[in-house]
Amino acid sequence: MLSADSIHPQPTRCARSEALDILTERVPAAKAAAAQALYMHVLAGETRVSAQRSLDEPPGLPGRPERPELVEPRKLGRRSMQSPEGRAVLLHALAHIEFNAINLALDAVWRFSDMPDAFYLDWLKVAAEEAHHFSLLSARLAEFGHAYGDFPAHDGLWDMCERTRGDVLARMALVPRTLEARGLDASPPIRARLQQAGDHASAALLDVILRDEIGHVLIGNRWFRHLCDKAGIDVHQTYLRLSDEYHAPKLRGPFNFEARRDAGFEEEELAALAGLEAQQRPSD
Ligand SMILES: [Fe+2]
Ligand SMILES: [Fe+2]
Repeated sequence: MLSADSIHPQPTRCARSEALDILTERVPAAKAAAAQALYMHVLAGETRVSAQRSLDEPPGLPGRPERPELVEPRKLGRRSMQSPEGRAVLLHALAHIEFNAINLALDAVWRFSDMPDAFYLDWLKVAAEEAHHFSLLSARLAEFGHAYGDFPAHDGLWDMCERTRGDVLARMALVPRTLEARGLDASPPIRARLQQAGDHASAALLDVILRDEIGHVLIGNRWFRHLCDKAGIDVHQTYLRLSDEYHAPKLRGPFNFEARRDAGFEEEELAALAGLEAQQRPSD
């Protein structure tokens, strides 16, 4: 016998509204698991993407736990990598970045309508990979006897998300191409300090993360260029204009040119960074 459901099948859920639901999730482990599951469901064709749909913003984004306590960046002290406690503080800071990165990727999925399907698939993939990074760092943190939330953290990443809420071009310029790209620059010296302290397990995590992050910046570059081409505007000049307009953090060397080249930055921009790095180098 036919059931009511088989005559009027339930519409499949939309990946963009699911991304918004996951963004409101407050429990980090549940958020990470749901972000990974959503990407799998979309790849399997079980959840579809409706690009045209425009969704209302619920209050209280993003969903996050009560801890960590969020403080101004200058209140976060630096610790030595030589002590396990110092490394736990570093792993916690990285876990916090990844937790925010899950939120940033999910936000790109639900907030911006009328983009090509590939845009949503790319950012769902990023959300799933950020969730994986968060899980790896949380597991390593547990080996130090700590959990996400044990130390204070700063809120700079979500702040840029808020500032660029109304403009997908600015979001692509300033989140993946600026903040995530800064992660590419920051990774090798942090990795070296962990290695120097004999913490090979944590250093190995940074290798996995750097490899994936190059892919995230590449995705940011792809969509930034797509939007610039569509509008008939120059990539490099538009980036400079937007970073000025939105008060993006000033770029500081040393830059990871190899990773940035792999992540799709063009020679003109790499040359501009090389010039900046030379200017910033203290004269001897
Ligand atoms: Fe990440
Ligand atoms: Fe990322």
